[in-house]
Amino acid sequence: MADPASFWNERYQREDYLFGTEANDFIRAVTPVAAPGMRAFAPADGEGRNGVHLARLGYEVSSIDASNLAVDKAFALAESAGVTLNARAGDMLEEDWPENHYDLVVVCFMHFMPDDHDVFMGKIRQCLKPGGLLVMENYTVDQIPLTSGGPKKPEMLLTPDRVRADLAAYDIAFMQEIRRHLTEGPRHQGIAATIQVIARKKAQTSVETDGKTGP
Ligand SMILES: C[S@@+](CC[C@H](N)C(=O)[O-])C[C@H]1O[C@@H](n2cnc3c(N)ncnc32)[C@H](O)[C@@H]1O
Repeated sequence: MADPASFWNERYQREDYLFGTEANDFIRAVTPVAAPGMRAFAPADGEGRNGVHLARLGYEVSSIDASNLAVDKAFALAESAGVTLNARAGDMLEEDWPENHYDLVVVCFMHFMPDDHDVFMGKIRQCLKPGGLLVMENYTVDQIPLTSGGPKKPEMLLTPDRVRADLAAYDIAFMQEIRRHLTEGPRHQGIAATIQVIARKKAQTSVETDGKTGP
């Protein structure tokens, strides 16, 4: 997508919340409560429904979204929920992400063309601490004929093989392809084909950290 900011600002230019104000229900069901000081990152958090939920669970939440209008709405949602979000507008692919920094990364319906997807997944891997958790729900290629949201280009959609390849550096605790009913604001309504994932970034081995192959 040439300019995600204008594409998405056009869509978020409305009073109500395009994907609702409640967190995605998979994320709500599986994300653990934070221990004190735990940090979470929500890339492409849109109008903030998931970031606000993470803040309610006790995380120090950082988020980014291409749309400044969405970020304004995220701040309004956080204020009405009485929580703090460290949200900012920007193109996350253009930014350096911190290394080994977050205890949790939550991805919700974020789809890129393959080259950008690889960059995105690499950045997530980099910013998670070893042992940190990735919780993700995205559409699969079976979403193409359905009308409950998502891009219509198959190369932007996921398959279980693609996810397994993306998550080679993780222990996958849970992964399921599912057809389910979405009720998320005006844009995500109806039957959807998604993949839901919970994965933990593996601790680095000495081979990965120092490049030596022997003791
Ligand atoms: C389908 S919406 C999902 C929003 C949110 N995750 C949710 O589920 O409510 C996709 C979001 O990705 C954001 N986005 C797209 N490309 C981006 C980029 N390169 N950097 C940051 N945000 C991006 C859009 O602005 C949009 O808010």
